[in-house]
Amino acid sequence: MYIISPSILSCDFSKLGEQVIQTGNTKAEYLHIDVMDGMFVPNITIGPCVVASLRPHSKLVFDTHLMINEPIRYIDEFKKAGSDIITVHIEACSDVAATLKKIRESGAKAGLSIKPKTDPDSVRPYLPLCDMILVMTVEPGFGGQSFMYDAVENIKKIKAMIDDAGLQIPIEVDGGITPETIGITAEAGATVFVAGSAVYKKPDIAKAVDDLLEACQN
Ligand code: DX5
Ligand code: ZN
Repeated sequence: MYIISPSILSCDFSKLGEQVIQTGNTKAEYLHIDVMDGMFVPNITIGPCVVASLRPHSKLVFDTHLMINEPIRYIDEFKKAGSDIITVHIEACSDVAATLKKIRESGAKAGLSIKPKTDPDSVRPYLPLCDMILVMTVEPGFGGQSFMYDAVENIKKIKAMIDDAGLQIPIEVDGGITPETIGITAEAGATVFVAGSAVYKKPDIAKAVDDLLEACQN
């Protein structure tokens, strides 16, 4: 019932393929791929060609987090490259509904994300178009930041909204997730957990995933 989505942002990029293959031998089910454009967030990472290069080496669900302005422009490219879930930011889309529809039309699952200070109510009109909601628990842009406890309220509010609407949409959390912080997010209603540093900065990544799973069940 709980899914860990290790974020490759914390990998050693000179050994990316190797580390992604190793991730396939852990209990992780997803692979979180952070795409940043230097505009929506102040950092630049990778594009569809890296996703396409990794695809033949992994059976994990490619959970692609687009932190880019007007992501509607790149949906088809990421789907073609091998993304299974494509998540966009509500703050980055001039037409949120059209963007989510385009993701579904591409054959990928559609995720909608909010930054920690965005009103959680803003996602309500789009819930029927979403296959996942991603609640950020840090300001997007960088790995290794501290968990923002204030954002837990956003998870609770969105969980209540989903339940009230009679929908079953998983909530993913991203940012500062460790064995110490994961429990509070699970309690608030999250079931998919992104973890970068808490997986790839550890000496044994399989054990790191086990530790996270164990901590969210407590
Ligand atoms: C931040 C990214 C996260 C990041 C998480 O903008 O969206 O996915 O890699 O890293 P940790 O788990 O180290 O906070
Ligand atoms: Zn992310």
